[in-house]
Amino acid sequence: MKTDLPRSFRRLEYRPPVYTVDQVELDIALDSARTIVKSRMEVLPGKSFESGAPLILVGQELEFVSLRINGEAHRHFELTPETLTIHSLPKEGQERCIVEIISICVPEKNTSLMGLYVSNGNFFTQCEAEGFRKITYFLDRPDVMARYRVTLRAREAEYSMLLSNGNLIGEEKLPNGWHSATWEDPFPKPSYLFALVAGKLECIEETITTSSGAKKLLQIWVEPHDLKKTRHAMDSLIASIHWDEKRFGLELDLDRFMIVAVGDFNMGAMENKGLNIFNTKFVLAQPETATDADFANIESVVAHEYFHNWTGNRVTCQDWFQLSLKEGLTVFRDQEFSADQMGSESGRVVKRIEDVRLLRQLQFPEDAGPMAHPIRPDEYQEINNFYTVTVYEKGSEVVRMYQTLLGREGFRKGMDLYFKRHDGQAVTCDDFLAAMADANGRDLTQFKNWYSQAGTPRIKVEERYDPASQQYHLTLTQSCLPTPGQSEKKPFHIPLKMRLITSENDQAEQLLELTQPAQSWTFSNISERPVLSMNRNFSAPINLDFEQSEADLLTLFSSDDDTFNRWEAGQKLAMQMILNNRLPDAQLINAYRELLLDSTLDPAFKELALTLPAESYLYEQCTSVDPQQIFTARRAFRRAIAKQLALEWAAMYQQNQTPGLFKSDAKDSGKRALKNLALNMLLEADPVVWTPMAVNQYRVADNMTDRYAAFAALVMHGAKGAQDCLNDFFNRFANDALVIDKWFVLQSSRPPVDGLESTLADVKRLREHPAFKLNNPNRARSVIHAFCTNNPASFHQADGSGYAFWVESVLALDPINPQVAARLARALDRWRLFAQPYQSHMKAALENVTACQTLSPDVCEVVSKALAG
Ligand code: TRP
Ligand code: ZN
Repeated sequence: MKTDLPRSFRRLEYRPPVYTVDQVELDIALDSARTIVKSRMEVLPGKSFESGAPLILVGQELEFVSLRINGEAHRHFELTPETLTIHSLPKEGQERCIVEIISICVPEKNTSLMGLYVSNGNFFTQCEAEGFRKITYFLDRPDVMARYRVTLRAREAEYSMLLSNGNLIGEEKLPNGWHSATWEDPFPKPSYLFALVAGKLECIEETITTSSGAKKLLQIWVEPHDLKKTRHAMDSLIASIHWDEKRFGLELDLDRFMIVAVGDFNMGAMENKGLNIFNTKFVLAQPETATDADFANIESVVAHEYFHNWTGNRVTCQDWFQLSLKEGLTVFRDQEFSADQMGSESGRVVKRIEDVRLLRQLQFPEDAGPMAHPIRPDEYQEINNFYTVTVYEKGSEVVRMYQTLLGREGFRKGMDLYFKRHDGQAVTCDDFLAAMADANGRDLTQFKNWYSQAGTPRIKVEERYDPASQQYHLTLTQSCLPTPGQSEKKPFHIPLKMRLITSENDQAEQLLELTQPAQSWTFSNISERPVLSMNRNFSAPINLDFEQSEADLLTLFSSDDDTFNRWEAGQKLAMQMILNNRLPDAQLINAYRELLLDSTLDPAFKELALTLPAESYLYEQCTSVDPQQIFTARRAFRRAIAKQLALEWAAMYQQNQTPGLFKSDAKDSGKRALKNLALNMLLEADPVVWTPMAVNQYRVADNMTDRYAAFAALVMHGAKGAQDCLNDFFNRFANDALVIDKWFVLQSSRPPVDGLESTLADVKRLREHPAFKLNNPNRARSVIHAFCTNNPASFHQADGSGYAFWVESVLALDPINPQVAARLARALDRWRLFAQPYQSHMKAALENVTACQTLSPDVCEVVSKALAG
C-alpha cells in the first residue's frame, strides 16, 4: 500500500461551491481511441464566492487541449493530474463568464467503466458518483446544477443511434460519413446525472398518457438481437409510472423517457435524467432465459431508477454524505411498489420477508464489521465504497420507520412538503426529516440518531405476567455495540409493533415507541399468560434479545396473525437448534408439516418458512465462528427436514406444478419456488430415487426457473447426470451472456459435496475457461464474487486456500476495475469473528493485499479499515 496517508473526506467540512455553473454546452466527437470533448460553461459566483478566488475544476485521465474565457485564449491556469485551476477570471469572477475547454479522453482504454467507455463496440457513460470528471473538466459535485445542451458526433455506420438526456432537438448528416444529434435537457441537473449512449441499438417504444393528460414516449434501447427480451421491462416501467402517480402524486416530467441496456456495468442501473442506463441483467428477460427472481429483480430495478426521477433527480443530494437521502428513500419506494405488485396482503408479507432476509444476511454483518457506518457517513476515502447495503437497505428501513411512526397519510404529507420546499434543490437528510416533522407537527429530534450512529441496536426483552393482578409487565432495554469511531451510543427512537397473543384473542396490536435506554409498560386485564409477538412486520431494524421458550416460538410459528412473525419464529427456532448442533425435534417437524399442508397459506410463504437462515446470518450469532461446523450442523438439520417430510415434499412437488402459459406473477412464481424447494429436499433425502425426476424436469422445462432449479439441484448434490446437464446447458445457451453467467455462478456456488473435488479447484478451472472474462463485471462476479461471498463453506478452508485465491483475485481485478475489486475485498471484513486457524489465514491474506504498492484508493480503504477496525 502507498505509504502516504490516504486522503479522506469529512461531512462537516462541507462548504458550498465558490463558483457555480448554470448552463453547459457539450460537443463530443466520439472516437474510441480519441474522443474530443468541447465544453462551454456559463460560470458565475457560488454561495461561498470570494472576489478573485480561482476557479478550480476537476478532471481525471484527460488530455488538456485548450482554454478560452469569454471567447479569448486564457493563459492563467495550472494543471495537476486531477485539477485545472483557473486564475484571473474577468472582473475578479464577480460576473458571469463563459469558460470553454477542449480536452481528449480514450474510451477504449477505460476498463473502470466510470466516465465514457466502450462496451461491445458501443459508447456508454457512467457519471455517478464522480465519473463526469473523466469526460471533461468540471465542478463535478452534486450541488452544482446546470442545464445541458449536448451535441454528439460519430461515424453513422457504426453509431447509428446517438442518445443523451432530455429532448432531441436536431440531427444532421456530416461529411465523411459522420452524423450528429443535439439533445437538450430542460431540467437543471448535477453532473452525475449526465449520460450519453452511442451505437447500433434498437428500441421498443410505447406512448402513454399520464395523470395530467400529457403524452409521453417511452423507449427501451438494446442490441437488435435482444429486442424480444424487453417486454417485461417496458411493462414494469409503465406500472412504475402509474404507481408513483397514485401513491405519491408524482408525474413523469419529461416528454421522453429512455432505458438503455449495457453488458458491461459496475452496478445494477443508473438513473440519469431521462436516459437510464441499465446492466443487461436488469432489463432482458424472457421465460426461456430468465428466472422468476430475474423477472422480479427487473421489475424492482426499473421501478427504483424511475422513482429516482423525483427522489434523487428533481430533489438531489447536497453532497455525497447525503447519499441515503436519495437511495434509502428510493429503495423504500421500490420495495413498496413491489409489495403492491404482489397483489395481495399475504404477497406483501412475502416481499417483506425477502427484504428483511437480505438486510440480515448482508447489512447486519456490515453494521457489525470494520466498515460499519451510519446511513449518513461522516467520513470516506472513496465514495464508491459507500454504495452499501447500509446506505441502501438500512436507509430504506429508516424511511419505513417514519411511515410506521406517522402512518401512511402522515408520511405522504411529509413527502408532499419535502417536494414543495425542495423541488429543484440539492438538500440534506436533515431537510427530509424536517419536512416529515413539520408536516406532522412532530418532534423528531431523537430520530436523527438513526442518521448519525452505526450499528444494529439490540433490544432486551423482559416480561412478567402476574396472574393475581392480571397484569403483564414488559421492560425493554436498548443498547448498541461500539462501531469504528463511535464508542458511546445515544438511545434511538425505535417504533416497535407488538401484540399480546391470548386464547381470548382480545388484545389489539400496538405501537410502542422506545426512546429511553430502558422503558417499561404494564398491560392490564390480561386473563392468562400471553405470548408476546414483538417487532411485528419487522417494524424496526434491530436485534431482539429475548429468551422466548420453544413452546412460545412454536405457538407463534403456527398461529401468529402477523405472518412476518410466523416466519420469524420459525427462523429463530431453526437458528437456535442449528447453533446448538441439534436436529429438529418431533414438535418442530410437526409444525413444518402442518404449515406445508395448510391450504390457506401462500406457497411462496411456505417456501420462505422452510428455508433455513443463511450461514452468514448464523455467523453473526456466534462469538467465534467455525464455518465448517456451522455448515455441517445446518446441512444435517436440512437433511432431517428433507427425510422426515419426504412424503409432504413429494406432495408439494405434485401440487405446485404450473401448467399452461408461463406467467412470472406472484402466484405462479410462488408455486414454482415451493415446488423447486421440494425437488431439492427430495434429492437431499434420496438422490438415487429422485435424480431421474430432476433430470426430467431439466429436459422438459419450458422456462428458466424450472430448468435452472433442476440443474442447480443436480449440481449442488453432485448427482449423477450433473455433468451432462452442465455440458448441455452451456451448449444450449452459449450465445446468451446472462445465462452463461448463471452457468458460472452455479459451479462457483456449489458447497462441498462428499466425493467431489473441491469447488476451489472447479473455480480455478472456470477462471481459465474461454468464456471467462475478467474485464466484464457480470462474468467476474459470477465466478469470483460468487465463490468468495456466496459459498462460505467452500471459501473458508482451514488451509487458507480460499483466501489465497481471494488475494490473487483482488490484485488481478484492481488495476482493471477498482470498484469491482473493492467489492470483492469486502469478503474478509468479518475476519475477527472467526476461530483459528481461519482468523490468522484471513489476517495474513489482508496483509498480503495491503503490501501491494499500487492499490487503488478503493481497495486500499477497504483492506486498511479491515485491519484497523
Ligand atoms: N444510483 C445508482 C442506483 O441507484 C447507483 C449506481 C449505478 C452507481 N452505477 C453506479 C454508483 C456506479 C456508483 C458507481 O442504483
Ligand atoms: Zn438508487
